[in-house]
Amino acid sequence: MIDTEAFKRMSYGLYVVCSGNQKNGNGYISNSVFQVTARPAQIAACCHKDNHTTGIIEKTGSFSISVLHNEAKTSVIDKFGYQSGADIDKLKEMNVEYGGTGVPILLNEAIAWMECKVVKTVDAGTHLIFIGEVLQTELLDETKPAMTYAEFKEKKQRTAPSNAPTHIDEPESSDTKKTGDKYECQQCGFVYENEKEGTPFEELPDDWKCPVCGAPKSKFKAI
Ligand SMILES: Cc1cc2nc3c(=O)[nH]c(=O)nc-3n(C[C@H](O)[C@H](O)[C@H](O)COP(=O)(O)O)c2cc1C
Repeated sequence: MIDTEAFKRMSYGLYVVCSGNQKNGNGYISNSVFQVTARPAQIAACCHKDNHTTGIIEKTGSFSISVLHNEAKTSVIDKFGYQSGADIDKLKEMNVEYGGTGVPILLNEAIAWMECKVVKTVDAGTHLIFIGEVLQTELLDETKPAMTYAEFKEKKQRTAPSNAPTHIDEPESSDTKKTGDKYECQQCGFVYENEKEGTPFEELPDDWKCPVCGAPKSKFKAI
């Protein structure tokens, strides 16, 4: 048997993985980034095949990793983790530097970054695992600790969306309420509070979408 609670005991960090160049750059939030070897220094990033960034990494053969600090702004995580570069220009008006390969490196909310050249790609079904040799790194802030995935879930009251390898489809509980004062998005964890928003959830139009991840109204459950 597989008890998904066991997966929740695993720990991760939180990163922005970017790829592309000055004209066509993009990035996404990832918690599935880890160092594979020390000599040479190699880092792996597990990217959903549907992510806009994945195609860019495949094409350019390089990516960057920005390590987010533990007070990283929700707005940056929401933009890079719940919206797609296929729809918006995520790097517009962001603080971006370019590596030797031309890859964009996001500096907002970052305490360190690494520039990597893809040396191997593993097809893992829904995801591609890019293994990159580290070309250069920079430490931006020695004072702030890195954000962990556990802190992200607790502080931001969000969960990783379905493209994340660590996404867990929560089973429907038999006592799920049909109506209430608060409704939670089952895709990202955003909570709609009737009192705060003014309009009762039930009165929102059918084509209303989650303001964080764009999930349809039907993805919300009364809590
Ligand atoms: C906390 C968190 C962790 C995530 N981890 C991953 C991950 O490891 N791999 C992945 O492919 N997507 C992950 N995602 C989802 C992508 O960030 C998300 O699908 C993003 O919108 C893709 O952007 P893109 O289409 O512009 O590339 C994560 C999202 C969040 C919020």
